[in-house]
Amino acid sequence: MTKPFNIGMIGYGFMGRAHTNAYKRVGDFFPELEYRPVLKAACARSAESVQAFADQWGYESIETDWRKLLERDDIDAVDICVPNNLHKEISLAAIDAGKIILCEKPLAMDTAEGEEMCAAVEKSGLANMVWYNYRRVPAVSLAKKLIDEGKLGRIFHYRANFLQDWTISEDLPQGGAGLWRLDAAAAGSGVTGDLLAHCIDTAIWLNGGITDVSAMTETFIKERVHSDTGEKQSVSIDDACSFLCHFDNGSLGLFESTRYARGHKALYTLEINGEHASIAWDLHDLHRLSYFDHRDEGALRGWRSIHVSDGDHPYMDHWWVPGLQIGYEHSFVHQVADFLAGYEKGEAVSPTFRDALETQKVCDAVLDSARERKWTDVG
Ligand SMILES: NC(=O)c1ccc[n+]([C@@H]2O[C@H](COP(=O)([O-])OP(=O)(O)OC[C@H]3O[C@@H](n4cnc5c(N)ncnc54)[C@H](O)[C@@H]3O)[C@@H](O)[C@H]2O)c1
Repeated sequence: MTKPFNIGMIGYGFMGRAHTNAYKRVGDFFPELEYRPVLKAACARSAESVQAFADQWGYESIETDWRKLLERDDIDAVDICVPNNLHKEISLAAIDAGKIILCEKPLAMDTAEGEEMCAAVEKSGLANMVWYNYRRVPAVSLAKKLIDEGKLGRIFHYRANFLQDWTISEDLPQGGAGLWRLDAAAAGSGVTGDLLAHCIDTAIWLNGGITDVSAMTETFIKERVHSDTGEKQSVSIDDACSFLCHFDNGSLGLFESTRYARGHKALYTLEINGEHASIAWDLHDLHRLSYFDHRDEGALRGWRSIHVSDGDHPYMDHWWVPGLQIGYEHSFVHQVADFLAGYEKGEAVSPTFRDALETQKVCDAVLDSARERKWTDVG
């Protein structure tokens, strides 16, 4: 006998759709789950648009004010898929209303907000999770397994990039629908909170905590028309950010992100070099994990490209037959499946608000370091 897990979705943009797809798929592919997501209500400010979304994706009802959604007794969990400046306010109100919270990343606008959110959710005892979904791409989960098994030995280097090219035109406005990422008042920061936060979350998960950072940022286009005012206003997000860091385990990190790498749409790559072995992964080829093991027989030694699609690879026994790959959207299905499995047992599922706060602290240290042009301790 399954039990309903009633979702109230706030925001119906990119992530609203990615999460809704996951809620719809999870019960079919993870039939062992006791709880099944029910699309109870979708919420956004325009009744017409949110109704169209609800009709298309199968939500039972709509709300145009998230506070009304939180008052409803038929909602178990709220899913926060709105710009970053709303995460704290909605989370704190949701905690007051006793709702489970699934919040998009980054957790908050800054560490101070994140700490307040963590303290409140932990005091409440409510289940919570933040959508750092790349951990649950099967190839990345396999990387975690190999590292935890000690296959790489001592880790020396961690390298990650997240490159895009969509903001190069100076005619692109800032603010408003779709372009809130260019407005620091809505986003908090630019590529650091938007893209590097993903790289940092994966890095902490795979390689442990980050001790200190030395960063540089650049804002290539200093003024853009603001969609709300129609006036040219200064831009205060970081268009590009690179940083060096030390990990707690003594390894060195090198991270780069930009929205000005012509030709790259979402190139998230990572490489880890250990004493015995190295691994590399690329979002554009997300079902493959590259692996080099120095302990292999000399003449045959070389980089192997593992097609992460066999039944004994993470999550893959839930999908098709061995050899057939899955994609980006499945990382969200896996995250919902893991969350519901944990919820069933009363166990927290990572990344929680607390885990996401660690990433937030690194992001803040990166921005502080760039501003002050010096090495900065995390937290
Ligand atoms: N996990 C990931 O890989 C990933 C990817 C993209 C975005 N995100 C995060 O998800 C969040 C949303 O990003 P997105 O790309 O979906 O944005 P989006 O612009 O596509 O959608 C934002 C939604 O928020 C709604 N909204 C804005 N203000 C609102 C309010 N006051 N009340 C109700 N609804 C409101 C808008 O109507 C829209 O539906 C951000 O925090 C972002 O950082 C995460």
